[in-house]
Amino acid sequence: MADIQSITTQSLADIAGAASPDALEALRVALLGKSGSITAQLKALGALPGDQRKSAGEAINRARDVISEALAARKAALDDAALDTRLAAEILDVTLPGRDGERGGVHPVSRTMERMVEIFGRLGYELADGPEIEDDWHNFEALNFPPHHPARAMHDTFYFPDGRLLRTHTSGVQVRYMKDVKPPLRMIAAGKVYRSDSDQTHSPMFHQLEGLLVDEHSTFADLKGTITEFLRAFFERDFEMLFKPTYFPFVEPGADVVIKWDTADGGSRWLEVLGCGMVHPNVLRAVGIDPERYTGFAFGMGVERLAMLRYGINDLRAFYENDVRFLKQFA
Ligand code: FA5
Ligand code: MG
Repeated sequence: MADIQSITTQSLADIAGAASPDALEALRVALLGKSGSITAQLKALGALPGDQRKSAGEAINRARDVISEALAARKAALDDAALDTRLAAEILDVTLPGRDGERGGVHPVSRTMERMVEIFGRLGYELADGPEIEDDWHNFEALNFPPHHPARAMHDTFYFPDGRLLRTHTSGVQVRYMKDVKPPLRMIAAGKVYRSDSDQTHSPMFHQLEGLLVDEHSTFADLKGTITEFLRAFFERDFEMLFKPTYFPFVEPGADVVIKWDTADGGSRWLEVLGCGMVHPNVLRAVGIDPERYTGFAFGMGVERLAMLRYGINDLRAFYENDVRFLKQFA
């Protein structure tokens, strides 16, 4: 019988030196497996003389227990180390900044519209809303365009087969608002409008901001002052501007406001930015407001036109080409 003590000592040293779970498993098989050395010792017991069997058996069993414990302890240590290595390799730092995609920004037209709404909000104008698919009465008739009136032709209207239309201006919202709210009142409405029209300063879909004030003593001077103050607040500088008399069926008198605009080539041109005027008595009558008692003024601004001037863009269609190199400049 081999010296069980030296087998044990050697085994414990081998176990302590096992560098991987596989090496440790190989050791376990070599010691405790079916043909392992400890197993062989147990098998050899039978050949011993009876008086030695008991003490030799106890010694081998003790050695087997010690070795089993050492194997288990080493296995736990190796497993722990493997887990630590894996955790260190797989570490996930949730505080690291993400890998970013392209960052978006508010579209320059939306940004301009928000700025306009904000300025009028400060002046006490209430923001109202109306549908983009409008009926003839709100878009035209209540605004003093009788059927077949030639001014309708100026609007290049998109019609639906049932006679409804894509609103050609935001002025229909005035009508809706005045049906609900009694004067004194001030409102604005902002949104998309549509006309079959396209060139450097016209787009088939564009945005307007409508404004309306009705009370007992409003005058054209109030209108002029409001528009001038708004444009000053919007551009944060003075522009050369003109109020040019013009015709809209729903105002009397009516004017276009044009602004002198410095072009990139060093020249200048005049750009129409809005239409305005004193609300026509027929419009007030159509919504049940007494034109003998109340007067009002209204205006409709081209949002893209103001954005062109503010950002120095000379072709309005650039807003709708969605070229990211263009849009990025506003992000
Ligand atoms: C109107 O639409 C009137 N409803 C404005 C108004 C309101 C007048 C209240 C009086 C009282 P006009 O068609 O001129 O008016 O359009 C108003 C503004 O919208 C223009 O001054 C211009 O700045 C802008 N605009 C008009 N057509 C286009 C277009 N196709 N593309 C871009 N902007 C446009
Ligand atoms: Mg016009």
